[in-house]
Amino acid sequence: MSDETKSSIPPTSDTEPSVSRSTVPVWIIVLTLVLLFLGMVYFDHHSGWFDSQVYGPYASSEELELYQPKSGAAALLARGKAHYDQVCGLCHGIDGLGKPGQAPPLAGSEWVNTKGFERLTHIPLAGVSGQLSVKGQTWGLAMPAMGAAMSDEDLAAVLTYIRSSWGNKDGPVTADEVKAARSALGAHPLPMSGNQMSKMPE
Ligand code: HEC
Repeated sequence: MSDETKSSIPPTSDTEPSVSRSTVPVWIIVLTLVLLFLGMVYFDHHSGWFDSQVYGPYASSEELELYQPKSGAAALLARGKAHYDQVCGLCHGIDGLGKPGQAPPLAGSEWVNTKGFERLTHIPLAGVSGQLSVKGQTWGLAMPAMGAAMSDEDLAAVLTYIRSSWGNKDGPVTADEVKAARSALGAHPLPMSGNQMSKMPE
């Protein structure tokens, strides 16, 4: 045993390690290339490369804020604003001030700032037609049932948003309240004029 061990140790100076120039084995080159390739694939799958959409998708801090998860009242208002801007804002203006010849203002409107919301809910669910007086000015246009296709949650968020924006300071509307109003109206509610609506309970 001890003899064997001894014999495995190089006995002469012939076998001393020496520095020599030899070519790099091909397998190391291949392995390096494979690792580089795998790294590239990993980068491709786990990052957005240098796409501006990934590294700088927001145009402003407000836009970024809009995408942040929110809870409670802030979430409801953000949802309401998003739907309002997309659907109602076209006519009533993003600022709620209305547009001459197109739609009356919602800011400070007696149809928005109501004690209850039976009348208010009727407007987006059924539409408006004929004469309607808003803040002393009479409008004779028509509004389609712009909220009829919205979910109860979305419409409640929109109504809550318009009742608490641009100086309006009225209470929130819940999805359950919109749901109740919708089922009370039936399948195809007819649009009403201002006169007809003013006979409804607020
Ligand atoms: C196509 C344009 C248009 C869109 C979109 C629209 N409205 Fe209107 N809205 C009108 C017009 C026009 C009137 C006035 C109708 C009249 O003169 O009889 C009106 C009236 C109103 C009124 C009562 C009057 C007032 O100014 O307070 C409310 C409330 C209202 N809209 C809310 C909404 C909401 C909420 C939405 C989105 C779900 C919406 N509207 C989308 C055109 C529009």
